[in-house]
Order: sequence, then structure tokens, then C-alpha cells
Amino acid sequence: MNTPIEPNLRLGVNIDHVATLRQARGTRYPSPLAAAFVAQSAGADSITVHLREDRRHIQEQDVRELRQALGIPLNLELALDETIIALAEELQPHACCLVPERREELTTEGGLDVQALSESVAEACGRLSRAGCRVSLFIEPEEAQVDAAEAAGAQAVELHTGRYANLSDPADLGREVERIAAAARRARSAGLEVHAGHGLHIENVTPIARLPEIVELNIGHSIVADAVLMGMAPAVARMKGVMLGARRRAPSRSAV
Ligand code: PXP
Repeated sequence: MNTPIEPNLRLGVNIDHVATLRQARGTRYPSPLAAAFVAQSAGADSITVHLREDRRHIQEQDVRELRQALGIPLNLELALDETIIALAEELQPHACCLVPERREELTTEGGLDVQALSESVAEACGRLSRAGCRVSLFIEPEEAQVDAAEAAGAQAVELHTGRYANLSDPADLGREVERIAAAARRARSAGLEVHAGHGLHIENVTPIARLPEIVELNIGHSIVADAVLMGMAPAVARMKGVMLGARRRAPSRSAV
């Protein structure tokens, strides 16, 4: 009997919006750290937080506590901001993901323009790598951005699935999945680890989870939203189950 192939797809649970709920009332609850522990016990492979310049949800103290107490990798999302890069150098999370940031945006709208910001991105990649962090760049699924990410010295790219998540026409969706797949293939063949995320939920995750080059999905808003109704552990376990089910049914990974 053949040994089943381990579906190589990790779930990073983004807990920013647990902190959003806490900040809405200035309380001490709900605790992002407690949510991270529940997510971990339910199958999360890593925990992601975005320490924004405006501190609208996650606070520096949250990052410190998570860094100290988590048993699974911590992925810190950060902008090209000197104070936060210096904090990442000090705390040395397992992974750092560089993202664009605009104060007025509701969430991270669009990927980092690594082509336009090549010098500052390369400098940040160097600093964070020397601090021992695996550096990924949150980019639009475009081949030019993948090439720029490789040139900047990143170890991984996270492909922005926000556009995919906003589409509803099946033909448009098919084209966008192919755009993401092409960027994933290019990144993988350049030796980069490939992640994806933004706007993914239980109904739309399958076509992305099936792409064999993608090894990590970072999902936040929909998991926290589901957690409000069903609890954090079932929400995480359900997402992980759907992701892995999709991957098991996907065509096998091509040799790279
Ligand atoms: N990946 C990155 C780089 C992000 O900035 C975000 C949003 O903070 C996510 C993934 C998760 O997106 P969502 O909350 O829509 O699942």
C-alpha cells in the first residue's frame, strides 16, 4: 500500500481582529494570546499578527507576549517602518512579512511594490534575515514583482489574493486563479517559498489551496468572524480541514 503523501500546506491564523474587538472598548479582553493558544491547539501551524503604525489592533505588548509564549512560529507583518523593523530585530520572530501600509485603508489593500521600492525592501530583507527571521514579501501575483522579490533577497513571497476574493464571475475567477498560479510557479522555480492570503474564507479557499506550489495560507478575518459564531477552535479546525482536503484532491506537485 502506498504511504499517503503528507499535504504540504500550512495554516497561519491571523489574530489581528481579536485585538480589534478588544481595542473597540479599551478592555483587556479578548486576549490575542489566549486566542493564539486555542488556534494552536486546533491545528494552526503559525500565528500571524500585523503591528500597524497606527496600532489600531495589535499592540507592541501583544507581539512581545506572543514571541515569548507561543509554541508555534510567529509571523510578524510589518511595513517599511524603522521603529517596527528595529522591534523585529530585537524580538526575532520566526518570520517577518513586509507589507504596504496606508493609514486610511481598512485593510492591506494591494501588494508591496517591490520593483519601485527595491532599495529599501532589499535593506529591510537584509536586516531581518540577519536577525534570523524568514522574510516574505506580500506582493501582487505578478511575475515582475516575484522577480523583484527574488532580487531583494526575500526567502518567500506571499501572493495577495484580495482581487481573487472580490471577484464573482466564474470566468474572471478562473483567470485570476491562473494569474496566481503563474506567479506561484515563477516564485517556486526561483527557489522562493510561496504563501498566499487576504480575503480567503471557507467558500473560496479551495482553488487556492489546490495550487501545489503554495505551502502556507495566512487567513484572519473570516476565521475570527466564524469564531464569533462557532468558537475559535472549530473555526480553525474547519478551515484547516477544508484546506487539506483541497490539497489531497489536487494534482501532485510538479518537480522543481
Ligand atoms: N496576509 C497579509 C500579508 C495580510 O496583510 C493579511 C491581512 O492583515 C492577511 C494575510 C489576512 O487577510 P484576511 O484577514 O483577509 O484573511
